[in-house]
Amino acid sequence: MKLVIGSDHGGFHLKETIKQYLQEQGIGVEDYGTLTGERCDYPDIAEKVAIAVAEGTFDRGILICGTGIGIGIAANKVKGIRAAVCNDLFSAEYGRRHNDANIVTMGERIIGAGVAKEVIRIFLHTPFDGGRHVERVAKIGKLEQ
Ligand code: RB5
Repeated sequence: MKLVIGSDHGGFHLKETIKQYLQEQGIGVEDYGTLTGERCDYPDIAEKVAIAVAEGTFDRGILICGTGIGIGIAANKVKGIRAAVCNDLFSAEYGRRHNDANIVTMGERIIGAGVAKEVIRIFLHTPFDGGRHVERVAKIGKLEQ
């Protein structure tokens, strides 16, 4: 699975922690920034990551800001993106099972590294349930027309 990650300054340290966690698991990830802790605008990072996932350059994306909310709202403006704010494990599981989320977002100011690593593990390993959820997810796509 090809993975891309990005954050603003509010999510920079958690992004670095998640990159290290993925590397320890032997999972490759491309970093689309920010590459320093300097202040930057989360919509700019969300745009780059979301477009790369929507275009199929990557299978899934990880986005981190202070809360996970702003960067998630921005990512969801890109056609084909289903970004789920997952600051807990239940959201990570059901974001995949019911919503077929292709981007997970988290907030560094909300969760610690331990929960964040578990969120990522669940996000990467939980399949979409399909079935009755297929048509519902398709209806989300129709809202983009
Ligand atoms: C940046 O201060 C902060 O607003 C941003 O990281 C994020 O939490 C926005 O939703």
